[in-house]
Amino acid sequence: MKTSTKISLASGLLLSISLLSISCAKYKSTSIDPGTVTPTKTEEVTLKSAMPFPMGAALNVSLLKSNNNYRNLIIKEFNSVTAENAMKFASLHPSKDTYTWSDADYLIDFANANGMRVHGHTLNWYKSLPDWVNNFQGTTAEWENLLKTHIQTVIGHFKGKVASWDVVNEAINDDGKIRNSIWVQKLGVDYIGRAFQYAHEADPNALLFYNDYGHEFGPTKRTAILNLVNSLKSKGIPIDGIGLQMHTRVTQTDANLATAITTAAATGLKVHISEIDIALNPDNTAGATYTTALADQQAAKYKAIVKAYNSIPKAQQFGITQWNVTDADSWIPSNYNRPDWPLPFDAQYQRKPAYQGILDGIK
Ligand code: XIL
Repeated sequence: MKTSTKISLASGLLLSISLLSISCAKYKSTSIDPGTVTPTKTEEVTLKSAMPFPMGAALNVSLLKSNNNYRNLIIKEFNSVTAENAMKFASLHPSKDTYTWSDADYLIDFANANGMRVHGHTLNWYKSLPDWVNNFQGTTAEWENLLKTHIQTVIGHFKGKVASWDVVNEAINDDGKIRNSIWVQKLGVDYIGRAFQYAHEADPNALLFYNDYGHEFGPTKRTAILNLVNSLKSKGIPIDGIGLQMHTRVTQTDANLATAITTAAATGLKVHISEIDIALNPDNTAGATYTTALADQQAAKYKAIVKAYNSIPKAQQFGITQWNVTDADSWIPSNYNRPDWPLPFDAQYQRKPAYQGILDGIK
């Protein structure tokens, strides 16, 4: 047999093997057989190995338990995790005297087994409250006790296992006013500082964050958030960091995104990009499709955000966390009832151009 025939037979064989493995991968919902995948040099680059700060993802605990593709991708790419929902009030504390730790504990065991940091989200929010809280009829002192007991019981349970917490989430409205949440109605605005103090009392080693969205919208909300954290700092409230959720969109300007990051860093606090996703269909077009052009714009937007983040002082770079892992598990399509592709991995668990955009942000 001539060498060229051998080569073409061999490459034909290789081609059919790879086509076979691609078609298997497409229909198999469980893990990909590692024997059929020959990693190339580029595939060995991962977010956690390439990036100079922790790279995290918010995790859905039921997917983590049931879906090996999901689980394996997280182990491969990330060194920090946040519970997407499992540490929220309604999940952990469904009735006054009942705490349900099992999903959050599962996430922590997973993180420990794989050498990952756990960021806690969130001790206080106006959403995700159980009915017993929304309907609670109590005096101011009883509300204060409810706030404190929840915070200290949760922090106490996870002490030594959760290194950092979003203590208060989304306390500011888009118009820059303090949100008229149930907490403000019952306890007044100063409850925010007390929430940090209660958290600090229960675990003095935990890093405590104020987390919100919309720093990139413009000066109104951004200034209000910065004023809040600066006033907490100046009162001696134990706050260590500021979380920029960064649920943003491909049409947001690079200038607004960079300003969001640099002004947060100017507080001197640690900065966590805590929930990033970049919507490609922010106007809710029903029949929208994922195109190469949109994929490239998204890659450029991820790059711009990472580049701005990589320019703040190292000691303030707490990390970047994406809000869930792939386009199949993002909250955006179901929450806004539209097609969208906001994350760096596609619904088949493959890297999108956005993934390369993140890597390019540190070049
Ligand atoms: C979202 C989750 O992703 C959804 O699964 C849930 O139904 C609602 O909450 N800001 C936050 C997150 O701080 O907790 C929210 O997470 C997204 C917006």
